[in-house]
Amino acid sequence: MVKAVVAGAAGGIGQPLSLLLKSCQLIDELALYDVVNSPGVATDLSHISSPALVKGYLPKDDGLQHALSGADIVVIPAGIPRKPGMTRDDLFKINAGIVKGLIEGIVMYCPKAYILVISNPVNSTVPIAAEVLKNAGVFDPKKLFGVTTLDVVRAETFVAEITGEKNPANLNIPVIGGHSGETIVPLFSQSKPSVTIPSEKLDALVKRVQFGGDEVVAAKEGAGSATLSMAYAGYRFAEKVIKASKGEKGIIEPSFVYLPGVTGGDAIAKTTGTDFFSVPIELGPNGAEKAIDVVSSANDHEKKLLQACYEGLKGNISKGIEFVKNPP
Ligand code: NAD
Ligand code: LMR
Repeated sequence: MVKAVVAGAAGGIGQPLSLLLKSCQLIDELALYDVVNSPGVATDLSHISSPALVKGYLPKDDGLQHALSGADIVVIPAGIPRKPGMTRDDLFKINAGIVKGLIEGIVMYCPKAYILVISNPVNSTVPIAAEVLKNAGVFDPKKLFGVTTLDVVRAETFVAEITGEKNPANLNIPVIGGHSGETIVPLFSQSKPSVTIPSEKLDALVKRVQFGGDEVVAAKEGAGSATLSMAYAGYRFAEKVIKASKGEKGIIEPSFVYLPGVTGGDAIAKTTGTDFFSVPIELGPNGAEKAIDVVSSANDHEKKLLQACYEGLKGNISKGIEFVKNPP
């Protein structure tokens, strides 16, 4: 039996993500939690003829407790999105508290669940989650994931536009580091199958992957940021976690994790100088089974990009940790 929870289920990401989870044959129970409208979204989805039993919960009547109790996987897209002119860090003030509150609920009602954090700024909200779990004595680094799959999905798509690959999902491109601007580092040199990017197109391609989120924010003209592509990416990652939990082997996807807590991660953290970092993760029944070192084999151009990534990440991570250690 698999119980999945979406926290922020009535939002721009939450609704299509919940639809995809409802259509997943591997899920038996789907709990939709939000501060507004979740019962309506749940009733709507409940008419779909797939196995998952769907229920919506609001904060009243101990809704968070009922939503989270017995959960195997909690996906968190709760929080405000960007408007044009904002950075993801501008979301910290509001979203840090939202994520902290939800993780406190997880500590109480489902401390063993896989936790997938989508809420921005991911570079800070994942360290916040880790700190709350650590303080409660229930931190399992193998089960806490910052969802960076949208960066991978974008890299696949934008590379395919250049190489002419008909199905972008056939490309496997590690995108590592964090999830904002220069902390996002695509490693095209390690694409499988290998790809040739014309040198005059490389810088623009790297920038497009790093700032793909801005492209959507600008196109939506104040109505929010990526929601549908994010729902696709969030579902892709969640489905992989669930499949691996059921014993499927060989599943690898990049994710922003606490490296020292994952096999192979310590050595990578020595190179990056940051404990939280996204690298390809081999998933298994316990969550993150192994962190795969793609950092040391980056080419010279990618190593330069990585230097900027390390600098940016350090501040984002310490800001998250500080928020829990010394609440504002
Ligand atoms: P949205 O405003 O459409 O939806 C957010 C939802 O969260 C709303 O329904 C709101 O009611 C709910 N919410 C607020 N506080 C809550 C709480 N305490 N508990 C439960 N639900 C709560 O926003 P969106 O477009 O869905 O984006 C959500 C977040 O995801 C944003 O922070 C955005 O920046 C982030 N995001 C991340 C990625 C990524 O790649 N990781 C991609 C896109 C968006
Ligand atoms: C994205 O990459 O699309 C998200 O992080 C949303 C944003 O603010 O750009």
